[in-house]
Amino acid sequence: MGNILHIDSSPRGDRSNSRKLAKEFIAAWQEQHPDDVISYRDLRQTPVPHVTEDWIVACFTPPEALTSEMTELLKFSDELVDEFLAADRCVFSVPMYNFSIPSNFKGYIDQVIRVGRTFTEEDGQVKGLANGKKVLFITSRGVEYGAGSPYEGWDCQEPALRYAFQFMGVTDIEFIHANGLDMGDEVRKRALDKAQSEIQELVNSW
Ligand SMILES: Cc1cc2nc3c(=O)[nH]c(=O)nc-3n(C[C@H](O)[C@H](O)[C@H](O)COP(=O)(O)O)c2cc1C
Repeated sequence: MGNILHIDSSPRGDRSNSRKLAKEFIAAWQEQHPDDVISYRDLRQTPVPHVTEDWIVACFTPPEALTSEMTELLKFSDELVDEFLAADRCVFSVPMYNFSIPSNFKGYIDQVIRVGRTFTEEDGQVKGLANGKKVLFITSRGVEYGAGSPYEGWDCQEPALRYAFQFMGVTDIEFIHANGLDMGDEVRKRALDKAQSEIQELVNSW
């Protein structure tokens, strides 16, 4: 029995393409793995707070020295970290915003990259602690980023996501990108069809 963490981050609701695609992935996965437990979080419903100076101090305070205020400050982050570490597989749906990720998903990353919890430092070397899990990002983008397109090389979203999770020790990272969703009906349909077939393929092989 697997433990899947599914997180949506689009600020849009039913109109969101990334949510729709992630929902399709989860539905197809559940059909093949009915005993898996799915934990769901919607960053639209539970916004992630920005990091503050007090929060940073609490993060770098050894657990035995934490005051009750510090423990309280870290409570939500601890909840997110526990949930992330408990999952064998994560499905994150993330739209592209201004060539990178929406601020709520950046906020999520800032809350889960935690010293002593998801990474540690030994002899000046960083070691990720979130090993052995698989992470899938389903992204939606308004334009295209392929070779020869006007925005070739502008994609800061995939590297931002990949490096943040690699830093925490995740090595098995997949991307399904739906590109060009705001480029008219024809491009949009092609992009969604392609993403849907990649979803089906990955459900069978993940
Ligand atoms: C604030 C904002 C910024 C965006 N920036 C980009 C961008 O830099 N590149 C891009 O390809 N699309 C961009 N888009 C388009 C979205 O990525 C696209 O519409 C996507 O489908 C949104 O995801 P969703 O449908 O899950 O909400 C932007 C949309 C918004 C609202």
